[in-house]
Amino acid sequence: MTDWPVLALPDEAATITLGRRCAKALPDDVSGWTLLLSGDLGSGKSTLARALIGALGHSGPVPSPTYTLVEPYTLERGTVYHVDLYRVADPGELYFLGFDDLDTGLRLVEWPDRAPGLDDTADLSIELDYAPTGRLARIRGLSPRGTDLARRLAL
Ligand SMILES: Nc1ncnc2c1ncn2[C@@H]1O[C@H](COP(=O)(O)OP(=O)(O)OP(=O)(O)O)[C@@H](O)[C@H]1O
Ligand SMILES: [Mg+2]
Repeated sequence: MTDWPVLALPDEAATITLGRRCAKALPDDVSGWTLLLSGDLGSGKSTLARALIGALGHSGPVPSPTYTLVEPYTLERGTVYHVDLYRVADPGELYFLGFDDLDTGLRLVEWPDRAPGLDDTADLSIELDYAPTGRLARIRGLSPRGTDLARRLAL
């Protein structure tokens, strides 16, 4: 699949719908998956993450992990680690964060570009861009199963 899907997200509700669709498209057990959410400040990463975590069964607030770096959620479909690397200056900090050990759950990573090389171990990338009306979501599969997920999100 060389032409990755680009979805138009004209408003916040569309971003929320995409987050919910990701939750639906993932397998029942989400353990071991890594999804990357990139895009400029205010592009909608946390909106999408919040909708995804909510659709996986979490009720209640989804605070931004900007300061804690990781917020874990223990859900029926597996543990979700909501990770925000915005404040990570040196990729070595990931080691101290214990990032590799988080593969027991679904790693949902905002600002993945702070840690070059994350693409190699991830399944799917969603890149949010500003558009004249709302946002665009560029979806890219990074593993075979992620490519399958990307194809299903394009439908
Ligand atoms: N498709 C969309 N069209 C227009 N506005 C949107 C869309 N999706 C989200 N927004 C709005 O954009 C704003 C910023 O969203 P959000 O906080 O999720 O961005 P972010 O990428 O997490 O930002 P930051 O990098 O600063 O944490 C919110 O007000 C949200 O409602
Ligand atoms: Mg955010």
